[in-house]
Amino acid sequence: MSSPKDESTAKKWNFQDSARLYNIDNWSNGYFAVNSQGEVIVRAPVGESRLEEVSLVEIVTGLQERGLEMPVMLRMENLVDARIRELNESFRKAIKAAKYKGEYRGAFPVKVNQQYHVISEIVRFGKRYHHGLEVGSKAELLIALSIMDDRESLVICNGYKDREFIDLALQARILGYKCFFVVENPSEIPLIISRSKEMNVEPMIGTRLKLATKVEGHWSEDSGDRSLFGLNIKQLIQVVDMLKEANLLHCFQLVHFHLGSQIPNIRNIRQGLLEACRYYIDLCNEGAPLQYLDIGGGLAVDYNGTYSTDGHSRNYNIQEYCADVVEAIQESLDEYGLAHPTIISESGRATVAHTAVLLFNVLDVTRFQAEPVPDSLPEDTPEPILNLLDVTRTVMPGRIQECYNDVMHYRTLVRDLFARGEINLRTVAVADNLYLNALQQIVAQMGTLKRIPPEIESLPEQLADIYYANFSVFQSLPDAWAINQVFPVMPIHRLNEEPTQQAVIADITCDCDGKLRNFSHIDDNSTTIPLHLLEADNDYYIGVFLVGAYQETLGDLHNLFGDPNIASIRVNEDRTFDLVHEFEGDSISDVLTYVEYDPQHLFQVFRKKAERAVKDGRISVQQRQQMIRLFEESLRGYTYFEK
Ligand SMILES: Cc1ncc(COP(=O)(O)O)c(C=O)c1O
Repeated sequence: MSSPKDESTAKKWNFQDSARLYNIDNWSNGYFAVNSQGEVIVRAPVGESRLEEVSLVEIVTGLQERGLEMPVMLRMENLVDARIRELNESFRKAIKAAKYKGEYRGAFPVKVNQQYHVISEIVRFGKRYHHGLEVGSKAELLIALSIMDDRESLVICNGYKDREFIDLALQARILGYKCFFVVENPSEIPLIISRSKEMNVEPMIGTRLKLATKVEGHWSEDSGDRSLFGLNIKQLIQVVDMLKEANLLHCFQLVHFHLGSQIPNIRNIRQGLLEACRYYIDLCNEGAPLQYLDIGGGLAVDYNGTYSTDGHSRNYNIQEYCADVVEAIQESLDEYGLAHPTIISESGRATVAHTAVLLFNVLDVTRFQAEPVPDSLPEDTPEPILNLLDVTRTVMPGRIQECYNDVMHYRTLVRDLFARGEINLRTVAVADNLYLNALQQIVAQMGTLKRIPPEIESLPEQLADIYYANFSVFQSLPDAWAINQVFPVMPIHRLNEEPTQQAVIADITCDCDGKLRNFSHIDDNSTTIPLHLLEADNDYYIGVFLVGAYQETLGDLHNLFGDPNIASIRVNEDRTFDLVHEFEGDSISDVLTYVEYDPQHLFQVFRKKAERAVKDGRISVQQRQQMIRLFEESLRGYTYFEK
């Protein structure tokens, strides 16, 4: 029961408190907000400068009416347009402000989100800026060549290249594409030379530099002398010599480097650029007619909204990034009187992270809520349980560590009594309630401690409610599992109510790793998130934001949960939205095929078993029919929890 104080705080709580609590203004880049109805809205740019708002709840309702159940990966076309525009306009602005003489050309790295509709939108919205694609494999090159038609946009071929890869890229040259080989290894050069001579086409050649600059953040190993990719100085000279000898040095027009993804500190980016410019200058002195400087990816996303050098954030915005890049190149090259190159960036994460939200419903909750402590216990209650009761009455600032030690000690004694058969389950339940009550008091008062010991620090998570939700971390948020990536998470409605429960969010894979336990709030990163109590007849919806980069293709089939439903929407000027594309997620039959089963064969085998059971008199013919109908429907059904 809530106290009068609780009621008064609950009344005061409104959508602005929720916006603050979930820190939405700091991570959303203005694309998401909370409206006065307490719902998360997407603020979609429509046209050149207008923003229109649509509630995510309205979108969820619309999708469900059209038969698309949760979980849904929601993509927003207007945001792809907005991100491409922001990146290109920011470079234009920086170039103009610095009076830089070169241009900017984006190349979206296909690996960041290879889905057909995402790449198609990038190519479509990018066309007016000649925004091209970066590919790292033959498959990605085929995508680029079939989807791109603007010959001014660049196709950048990174990765190891066999003869087929090289031939495909040379054919692209014949078709008029500005298709660059970025040489990762000197051994690629002889093949590029011989195939281009045989096909009678001039290749466009770049080299990937292995820079000494090391960056901070999760991908720091992509940078520095020990990074896996790129040519060292000796190899670079080898490449120059080979091209000179083949009379193809004039084809060497680009240098590329990639310091790692999600670089949190702008200082590292500047350092890397200055180092790359040194290479650029010396390669020009060697006779290479360089015209392009490709600075790779790394432009970071502020996932936790802290605008800091934390690995889940960045201490700069896009405009500052562009200004720093332009200035660093200009300053370095002006000193040597070199023409300003076309700047290429392969920004992936920053282009698409904001454009997708994973939406799901909560299925159930396990609460860790202690019952009120009794005034007294029966006389024959064992000593350790009486002691636990005492502890629940003495938790107070100054005694927190001592109380914690006592609680753990008496609980061990209670468990020993149970193990020896001296107390029964009901008595242990009484003790467990006292234990839980004491720990909850400790958590409520732990803020009074000067230093929080590790065993107490983990208590909030241990006592948090578990919200079981309808999605798979492994399928839809693999980075949350694999590299503890923080994504912004929040309920998308009921935001005029105070969320009273601290929770972790478990998925439906039945795997102890299948949970979300890294949350960013206004104060700090946390292992729990405040959520609302579930209501009996109403679904509770949660959104995980900024999931448009890397998550969809890295996801896997743990427990055979397949791709979720996907909806791609466009927000219109009249605040309606169009469902531009909808894809039903994998059916059970689909995921079985991925792991080498033949669904038809499974069905036939099952049908035979059911028939055998009829023959043996174990089931009736009607039961057989029901069974095989259910089996057949299940094969066609969604892999996730269906209502
Ligand atoms: C060569 C190359 N370019 C671009 C990217 C994209 O990086 P980001 O998503 O940080 O922009 C990557 C990813 O690590 C990469 O390896």
